[in-house]
Amino acid sequence: MSEARQILVTSALPYANGSIHLGHMLEYIQTDMWVRFQKLRGNQCIYVCADDAHGSAIMLRAEKQGISPEQLIAEVQAEHSADFADFLVDFDNFHSTHCEENRQLSEAIYLKLRDAGHIATRSVTQYFDPEKGMFLADRFIKGTCPKCGAEDQYGDNCEKCGATYEPTELKDPKSAISGATPVLRDSKHFFFKLPDFQAMLAQWTRSGTLQEAVANKLAEWLDAGLQEWDISRDAPYFGFEIPDEPGKYFYVWLDAPIGYMASFKNLCARRPELDFDAFWKKDSGTELYHFIGKDIVNFHALFWPAMLEGAGYRKPTAINVHGYLTVNGQKMSKSRGTFIKARTYLEHLNPEYLRYYYASKLGRGVDDLDLNLEDFVQKVNSDLVGKVVNIASRCAGFIHKGNDGLLIDANPEPELWAAFQSAAPSIAEAYEARDFSRAMREIMALADRANAWIADKAPWALNKQEGKQDEVQAICALGVNLFRQLVIMLKPVLPNLASAAEAFLNVAPLTWSDLATPLANHKLNAFTPLMTRIEPAKIDAMIEASKEDLAATEASTGNGELKKDPLAPEIDFGAFAAVDLRIALIEKCEFVEGADKLLRLSLDIGDEKRNVFSGIKSAYPDPSKLEGRLTLYVANLAARKMKFGVSEGMVLAAGPGGEEIYLLSPDSGAKPGQRVK
Ligand code: MSP
Ligand code: ZN
Repeated sequence: MSEARQILVTSALPYANGSIHLGHMLEYIQTDMWVRFQKLRGNQCIYVCADDAHGSAIMLRAEKQGISPEQLIAEVQAEHSADFADFLVDFDNFHSTHCEENRQLSEAIYLKLRDAGHIATRSVTQYFDPEKGMFLADRFIKGTCPKCGAEDQYGDNCEKCGATYEPTELKDPKSAISGATPVLRDSKHFFFKLPDFQAMLAQWTRSGTLQEAVANKLAEWLDAGLQEWDISRDAPYFGFEIPDEPGKYFYVWLDAPIGYMASFKNLCARRPELDFDAFWKKDSGTELYHFIGKDIVNFHALFWPAMLEGAGYRKPTAINVHGYLTVNGQKMSKSRGTFIKARTYLEHLNPEYLRYYYASKLGRGVDDLDLNLEDFVQKVNSDLVGKVVNIASRCAGFIHKGNDGLLIDANPEPELWAAFQSAAPSIAEAYEARDFSRAMREIMALADRANAWIADKAPWALNKQEGKQDEVQAICALGVNLFRQLVIMLKPVLPNLASAAEAFLNVAPLTWSDLATPLANHKLNAFTPLMTRIEPAKIDAMIEASKEDLAATEASTGNGELKKDPLAPEIDFGAFAAVDLRIALIEKCEFVEGADKLLRLSLDIGDEKRNVFSGIKSAYPDPSKLEGRLTLYVANLAARKMKFGVSEGMVLAAGPGGEEIYLLSPDSGAKPGQRVK
């Protein structure tokens, strides 16, 4: 192989205010597979990531939970790290943008841009929440659409009529944070002069660094002329203060991509063989790739290369953009149970099933990718269990029983072996080009050939005949060797299966160059099942559990859908009066078999009994303690069918979740069935 390449790879930094879901995993799994492929080929490939920890959303979220932002981001980082590790996403470093390395790099880059004349300042008039004492981003302002009159619309666009406008055009604006009427106020803002880089970007975006569809999209913006980019926010803000400008903070998207550098810098401190400058200085000879989703292209393909150029650093070798995940042909949906968190998946299924399915569907384009759950079960079972693992399980027994586990030196079908050899370069090319689906197709075509050949030779039949032992051993030796070839080629996708296979084959960790030589005169270890089939019931359970997650969020925060919005929209009295809120007596309260988060409550609401499932188990580990207690109950909520039965209405609780969920109670004297007025 030619000289080893030096490659630095990143995935987008996930926001530190929510859980990782299967949509995110599409990105991290694909990046990880590409990185593992590079490592398998003998290249030096470093994969870094971090949590994106800054911004007002995180600040407000922490405030709402009654904890510091530092505490919130530490908790989320631990959760994210565990999710990634369990999906076998093997970062060399997973850091945070809220770190000293990032502060220093962000300041240094900003100062270089400023001193080179790429920063402008001017006064901006913006809505300010006088009660909360902060400027309001567009999504924290609500009001009446100036075009169609629809109430309760966000500050920049109307969901009813699709109009876009300035927040100042909204009628009757309100702060979504405090409900106060915002006032207009001036403040000095800092701008990055993107137009200074127009010519460079026009050239760079067309230099093979981007997929064509992405370059075309950017050309529209470039043709329209680039605007200066507002990179400052006023206190209070969770982020880094701008040097020499007290009370002004870097906008989260300024320091987020610098977080890639910061995470790498943090790694360099631990790994002395890594040289920070070798990867970030101009004309370094190293390669830099960012994997991102299609929603954040402008930040990575316009602002970021311009920042790097302006501050004297190298620009990315390429930016690899992917589409969005849909489930069963539709946008992920909480109520359908297809908004599946990484952790919920892991509680039910093997991560390698999903890694393989994504690989089998991922091309080089920016199209959305559909996780069709029926197809998922079918494909994984037929390809991985039915084709790949099957080869080893068909052959291993004969070698153990007939030759004490010793794989002989034999190649009874040189053409077949040669076909595997000659397919390898094309498969490597497909991986290199991120055309994972082509790689998987070609690998499975090889698996089909191996299976057909073994079926044709039928060692199980030969084994029953006198004097055919040598032939059986030869067939199985080739069978196991072909299996080993497939394992090597699938190793970037299925690292756990590969290490289980390495244990069975009794070999050191396999690399791509091991494809060149077969095993011969080699003792095998006992064969253990390498992968089992997906049971469709597990899929159903995962969907139910995702609905349950929703019920749990609803019970603890009011409404999971509104989590990003710190305040529920204002409602009129009619909407409030429509809620049939009553006192209920909890007659019985018990665990629900098979549900991690739910309790079943039997309620007495005066003249009727009701059955309710509530996601409050984490706070009430002894459900019998709730029996005999009064609580508040929404009686006219549409019934909801769950795996465990029908939930009729909802009991009311407050708190951030986990152990901190507090079921509401009336004062003593209240009677079951009384209406709240
Ligand atoms: N924090 C920013 C990225 C900063 S990078 C300097 C961000 N975070 S995110 O958590 O919203 O998204 C992280 C990555 O996951 C993004 O690349 C995003 O496109 C991707 N995805 C988020 N939801 C997705 C799907 N439903 N499907 C596929 N990818 C998705 O953006
Ligand atoms: Zn409108």
